[in-house]
Amino acid sequence: MNIRRAKKQDIKNISKLLINTFNKFLLPYFTKEGAENFKNKKLSTKSLLSRMNQYMFVAEEKEQIIGYIEANLNEIQLFFVNQKYQGKGVGKALMDTIELIVKKKKNNVIYVKASIYAVPIYTNLGFKKTTGKRQINGEQYQPMKKIIN
Ligand SMILES: CC(C)(COP(=O)(O)OP(=O)(O)OC[C@H]1O[C@@H](n2cnc3c(N)ncnc32)[C@H](O)[C@@H]1OP(=O)(O)O)[C@@H](O)C(=O)NCCC(=O)NCCS
Repeated sequence: MNIRRAKKQDIKNISKLLINTFNKFLLPYFTKEGAENFKNKKLSTKSLLSRMNQYMFVAEEKEQIIGYIEANLNEIQLFFVNQKYQGKGVGKALMDTIELIVKKKKNNVIYVKASIYAVPIYTNLGFKKTTGKRQINGEQYQPMKKIIN
């Protein structure tokens, strides 16, 4: 498995991975309208292309994109791994890549609006809840943060 920065030519495949994985895992935490909104605003090729200035990394295996992480300065925006490849350390490798960047920028905290599904996973990756659950725009999430040493 290899981790590298996302390129413009990857966007179609990234969007497919995000939408498939979203539909499999995250629909229960969204209203119908909230899910459509989230897909349009964050997972569509058009929205991804408009954010190419963010930190965007893919995990690839045999030239297939199997994972994706996106962050701005110190907040995780998207974090998805293809179902077949989950639980094997791909997510951790993507998160380590972002942590390295945050450290280089002399920052020591990463925030995330965690999907409720991923709270145990973020906890295993060292994140802690900062408040109770929140609900906004038809989406339930859990604010969390990680202090990096
Ligand atoms: C969140 C996600 C990207 C993690 O990717 P992954 O490749 O499965 O993660 P890893 O295998 O690197 O596991 C990371 C840690 O979480 C743990 N973990 C993995 N799956 C878990 C699960 N279902 N329940 C509890 N812990 C889990 C791992 O053991 C590991 O901890 P460790 O380092 O102490 O062993 C992936 O599960 C996913 O795409 N989920 C659906 C979309 C989602 O919820 N994204 C987050 C949006 S904010």
